[in-house]
Amino acid sequence: MTNKSTSGLASAALFFKEIFANQRTVGAAAPSAPALGKHMASKVPALADGQYVVELGAGTGAITAQLLNSGIQGDQLVSVERSEVMSGHLRKRFPDIKVVQGDASRLKCLLEDDHGICSKSVSCIVSGLPLRSLPKTVVKSILSEAQEILPSGGRFIQFTYDIRKGANPALSAFSRRDTQVVWMNFPPARVDVYIKP
Ligand SMILES: C[S@@+](CC[C@H](N)C(=O)[O-])C[C@H]1O[C@@H](n2cnc3c(N)ncnc32)[C@H](O)[C@@H]1O
Repeated sequence: MTNKSTSGLASAALFFKEIFANQRTVGAAAPSAPALGKHMASKVPALADGQYVVELGAGTGAITAQLLNSGIQGDQLVSVERSEVMSGHLRKRFPDIKVVQGDASRLKCLLEDDHGICSKSVSCIVSGLPLRSLPKTVVKSILSEAQEILPSGGRFIQFTYDIRKGANPALSAFSRRDTQVVWMNFPPARVDVYIKP
């Protein structure tokens, strides 16, 4: 279920306000277009009962909305967002999902200690984090948490505005299985599907 009064204009206005306040951590010129979110959602494998998809850097919910539209159940989606304001917005916009406010660099603790979510139940991570503009130490912690949490064969799905073909060296512990440019986004973005060996 999506709350219509918090989608559309309200989401866009909040996103732009946050860009001015936190340019480096937001790391985007605009919320992702539906085409980008749809493409990312199409790469999420079917979930068994009791498994979760974790979304990192949910922002105002552009990708969240497409994950839900693709058929993922609200109670199997956990969206992590660092900004308190955007987290509040996500809770109102998507009352059926679990919104976790905090820093993805302490993902395991956030899920387990703060929210009682067993990290072993996470089968896929969908990331809207700006890995190329966040500090390297933060990126390193986030990716080592993701490595620890995902099962072997688990997917880490990431978009980037760097549409050149090379894989992100920061993700070298994963192997890249699939890569595709989504042109219907501003700016165009590449979606990479990384697999934990
Ligand atoms: C590029 S925006 C993407 C927003 C949304 N997913 C979209 O595609 O429109 C990145 C988001 O990641 C969040 N973020 C940045 N660093 C973070 C961190 N360490 N932990 C959790 N969220 C973070 C920002 O606040 C921002 O909302």
